[in-house]
Amino acid sequence: MRHLISPLDLSVEELDDLLELAKDIEKNPKKYAHACDGMKLATCFYEPSTRTRLSFESAMLSLGGSVLGFAGADSSSAAKGESVADTMAVISCYADICAIRHPKEGAALVATTKAKIPVINAGDGGHQHPTQTLTDLLTISSLKGRLDNLTIGLCGDLKFGRTVHSLINALIRYSNVKFVLISPEELKIPDYIREEVLDKNNIEYVELERLEEALPDLDLLYMTRVQKERFFNEEDYVRMKDFYILTSEKMKLAREDMLVLHPLPRVNEIAVEVDDDPRAVYFKQAQYGVYVRMALILTLLKWRDEVC
Ligand code: NCD
Repeated sequence: MRHLISPLDLSVEELDDLLELAKDIEKNPKKYAHACDGMKLATCFYEPSTRTRLSFESAMLSLGGSVLGFAGADSSSAAKGESVADTMAVISCYADICAIRHPKEGAALVATTKAKIPVINAGDGGHQHPTQTLTDLLTISSLKGRLDNLTIGLCGDLKFGRTVHSLINALIRYSNVKFVLISPEELKIPDYIREEVLDKNNIEYVELERLEEALPDLDLLYMTRVQKERFFNEEDYVRMKDFYILTSEKMKLAREDMLVLHPLPRVNEIAVEVDDDPRAVYFKQAQYGVYVRMALILTLLKWRDEVC
């Protein structure tokens, strides 16, 4: 049984196939409208979500399947003390595939221990968010035409931002990808990513504090929200939350073809005026999230059927 817990669970070839499938789905949605007739997707979300849960549901409905699930730990038996592994053993009796989001790092991996269906990690604490990465890769590949030869600025909460951790892991597999890591001192990328992922693979990167300094050199700017829910105290969050605000004025420093991505939700880090800049593609990115999740559901179910 194949699951998706980390972006590295897919080889580069498998990832390329998945992105091609997503592009075909975008062009020919009708061809896939009954591909999952009679199948069910469970969404088990122990943490808030708008895009990830609803794009998973939209993806399964667009494939002809149906959806069930819960959108908060309080409304599931987690509130009674049930373990994630036990819940997943039960969900396996009700659904063909499951997407799980949980505040604890490693929870999705634990879920696979008793699952009899493919499990998709829809975010585990401050650790990984592989389907956001698939969304980001499809956005970059579709709008830039490549995943190699890119200088990518990652800006904001690089410490707790799981989307950034997963994206770095995935992008280092393409040639000549350089990172500009833009964050305040307290929100720098965790040591395990710097040492085990970047340094170990000889990836070129610089760490900066000023966004203005980085902007002229970037092919892509990936903005992130300061992850309020992962702070130990409110005071630190308040001090950090408006550290970066991308404005139209700052966009003048960037190249004509630099794209701005953001996994969303946005809080204050991108001024609303930037939405009208053709380089701002974060709402398009959310649309790509549906196509890529359709491709992922199809692929994992195909692999399951090959095994069973
Ligand atoms: C991200 C997440 O949940 O990590 N959101 C999303 O899934 N699009 C980013 C965030 O919450 O800041």
